[in-house]
Amino acid sequence: MERVVLITGGNRGIGLATAKVFAAKGNKVAITYRDTPPDGMEDFGIHSYSCDVTDEEHIDKTFKEVEETLGTVEILIANAGITRDSLAARTSNADFSEVLDTNLTGAFRTAKKALRGMMKNRWGRVIFVSSLSGRIGQIGQSSYAASKAALVGLSRSLAKEYASRDITVNVVAPGAIKTDMLEKLSENQINEYIKSIPLGRLGKPEEIGEIIAFLSSEHASYITGSVIPVDGGLYMG
Ligand code: NAI
Repeated sequence: MERVVLITGGNRGIGLATAKVFAAKGNKVAITYRDTPPDGMEDFGIHSYSCDVTDEEHIDKTFKEVEETLGTVEILIANAGITRDSLAARTSNADFSEVLDTNLTGAFRTAKKALRGMMKNRWGRVIFVSSLSGRIGQIGQSSYAASKAALVGLSRSLAKEYASRDITVNVVAPGAIKTDMLEKLSENQINEYIKSIPLGRLGKPEEIGEIIAFLSSEHASYITGSVIPVDGGLYMG
């Protein structure tokens, strides 16, 4: 069924791959970017809108534009995220807050906005893109891991609050996926990482996109408040 889908941070990486999966399935897809609109989106039938998830007015403006051109957002993928990795002792409060403001509060801001329209429609899907790091913690990622773990509490609370309106809220927790985010690691670090992954390789962004599309579909109508790991078996707990 054709749905209106909004993906934050959809100009590259996991967000863009997810947008392409939804577009290929015939949905009306909107992605957000921060600075420069990505090239060639019209070839995939994807609409791009500028949006900074740390700015509530900007979010309001983006939703208005999406509603005017595509209709009420029925599926929200809160994917925008940043890292400011460093050991906890060296992490400034400003960096810690910036990560939380983008990854957690940014996701809350966009979800709150999207849920209003979903409530009226009495149908909706919200997917938060969390991380393996939020489940097991990582050295140098106290801010990132805290923000990603908190998405689980957020999603489960929303899942309970909105279940009676046929709105499901779920979390996808990717492991190591080949995107710009991993480029901060050296080849050596990546090779070490791969050794610990049972499936023996990094994940592809579209492998996350397919799971997100499944969770957004009618096939997943009895799944809410779940955390779905997509990590090649790295953490099976
Ligand atoms: P990426 O760095 O390519 O994409 C991040 C996206 O978020 C970009 O489009 C960026 O513009 C956007 N963004 C950042 N701050 C924003 C803001 N204030 N407002 C609006 N958009 C903003 O990285 P990737 O890998 O595609 O990450 C996507 C999501 O997946 C992130 O939430 C990340 O934490 C998560 N993730 C990635 C993993 C990986 O191994 N690549 C593993 C686990 C989770």
